[in-house]
Amino acid sequence: MKEKTKTAGTIRFTDTTLRDAHQSLWATRMRTDDILQIAKTIDDAGYYSIECWGGATFDVCLRFLRENPWERLRLIKQVCTKTPLQMLLRGQNALGYKHYPDDVVDRCVALACENGMDIFRVFDALNDPRNLETAMKAVKKYGGHAQGTICYTVSPVHTVAKYVELASALENLGADSICIKDMAGILTPGAARELVSALRDAMPSMPIQVHTHATSGMGAATYLAAAESGAGCIDTAISTLSSFSSQPPAESMLAVLESEGFDSTLDKAKLGEINAYFRKLKGKRQPESSRKVEPVDAGVLVHNIPGGMISNLRSQLAQQSALDRLDEVLAELPRTRKDLGWPPLVTPTSQIVGVQSVMNVLGGERYGIVPQETRLYAAGYYGRTPAPIDAKLKKKLVGKEIKPIDCRPADLLPAGLAAAAAELDPSYIKAEEDIISYCMFPEVALGYFKWRAQPEGSRDPIPADVEESKAEQAAAPAAQAGLDPAEKAFADLGRSLASLVRASLGGEIPANVPAPAAAPAKAQATEKPAAAEPAKGALPKGVPVLAPLNGTFYRSAGPGKPELAAEGASVKAGDGICIVEAMKLFNTIKAPCAGKILAFAVEHGATVAKGDTLAVIG
Ligand code: CO
Repeated sequence: MKEKTKTAGTIRFTDTTLRDAHQSLWATRMRTDDILQIAKTIDDAGYYSIECWGGATFDVCLRFLRENPWERLRLIKQVCTKTPLQMLLRGQNALGYKHYPDDVVDRCVALACENGMDIFRVFDALNDPRNLETAMKAVKKYGGHAQGTICYTVSPVHTVAKYVELASALENLGADSICIKDMAGILTPGAARELVSALRDAMPSMPIQVHTHATSGMGAATYLAAAESGAGCIDTAISTLSSFSSQPPAESMLAVLESEGFDSTLDKAKLGEINAYFRKLKGKRQPESSRKVEPVDAGVLVHNIPGGMISNLRSQLAQQSALDRLDEVLAELPRTRKDLGWPPLVTPTSQIVGVQSVMNVLGGERYGIVPQETRLYAAGYYGRTPAPIDAKLKKKLVGKEIKPIDCRPADLLPAGLAAAAAELDPSYIKAEEDIISYCMFPEVALGYFKWRAQPEGSRDPIPADVEESKAEQAAAPAAQAGLDPAEKAFADLGRSLASLVRASLGGEIPANVPAPAAAPAKAQATEKPAAAEPAKGALPKGVPVLAPLNGTFYRSAGPGKPELAAEGASVKAGDGICIVEAMKLFNTIKAPCAGKILAFAVEHGATVAKGDTLAVIG
């Protein structure tokens, strides 16, 4: 081989093995002990940074592993003294799935910094810079490295010029570097070259990092193109935890880039040691479900829909006994996404667009059924949509009860720390970090605190992981097995958003907005309520109100909440009279005509099938 004459410069590597890689391939089940045994070698391997913290790792630590995520961070920091630690921060959503008050976001960042976090990759699902402001400011204030993020997607409104505009907004917010975050693995080499070059031209001194997933099989080519165009850093995972829906492998990318004249600081012998370690760990930590995954999901190249989202659609359709309609839903999805202003498909927008597409297909009429989350999204409670929603459609989606907003959603939230601290049993609070954990995931954190408060010898055991994943699959309804924590937590999203709506209305919560503490959705997930006994013969004559979907029937939006309508009440056409909860979302069922509710045909909490009579109006 001829000696290389070109020197392409140094390319840096961020190791994602301890965060994104095991989140993508091992259901986030790596333990702190697993990490600590190899952390020193990773620290010595010459990486630019080690990504080891984020919303999902935080959630799973508390929820399944009974570990304190803050303690994990401190322990990693003790060992990794050379390489900066990196985390993924969901902007105003911090480590959770909803908008938190500014004081909560600020203290969350402060404590992460204090406990050893160095680099914060801050992103927002809608790329709305207003949702990044508080987090970016806090990172700067507490001395961290603020990496502003472009959530990459493909749509007519996501042009290179728009991405550059977003990058300048991030620069104005104090970004120390910019990350192109391709969560679905749809960034082609050509698009990477174009985007990185444009960013280079617009802000020559701004470091650019690229994050992709190997899902579509393009990852290595994309990274090469990005590096050649001036990206200084790429995200890779050690080979055992790479590829599939994870990042491309560090070892292979190093060989590719070296062959093209790039220098790197990586130590190949150390990479070998790290990989040998994880190859051994794999048997213990890789869940059953991810052993059957296809190496490449070429469908992503055709429809640009992330693989995880399709498996969620599949399980939602299975719940509706309508798996045969998947192709129709896949065809509907881009139309719904267009109608909703082309949001990037990432939590929570992927769930909103996905569920609405399913409703549009199954409901017969498009937007005949609009879940609360779509209403709130259209009303501005998630932030500004990339393209405006057509005014007429927006009016229909938002409905009468919700007030549309233009402001930064978190502007409506009162300070939250003191209230959270007051809510918590003081014996549970060992440090300020516990209050933050509670703010992020109240029920999950409480479960952890209670477990922690038990004497060490008598705590509930944490099952071994492979067993655990089997147990989880057995415990969950078949259609829900394999959903990630984000999907599970989405069930809580609508209820938490209700507090924003309440704030915007200056008080009362609309009847059809589920209350923050509403529990029926959760109860339904674990135990099936008694089957409905419609007793059709006994129903009075009148106009039947039919269930539009399979789901669970409710008269009210949660325990202690008033019924939407009483038997005998007079209603107008379009009045909400009951709820069918389906796909973990609440759907208010409206009166088809004016009249008196002659009878409800189903018990509160009962399972209903599409087409069942719920009530009769006459
Ligand atoms: Co990722």
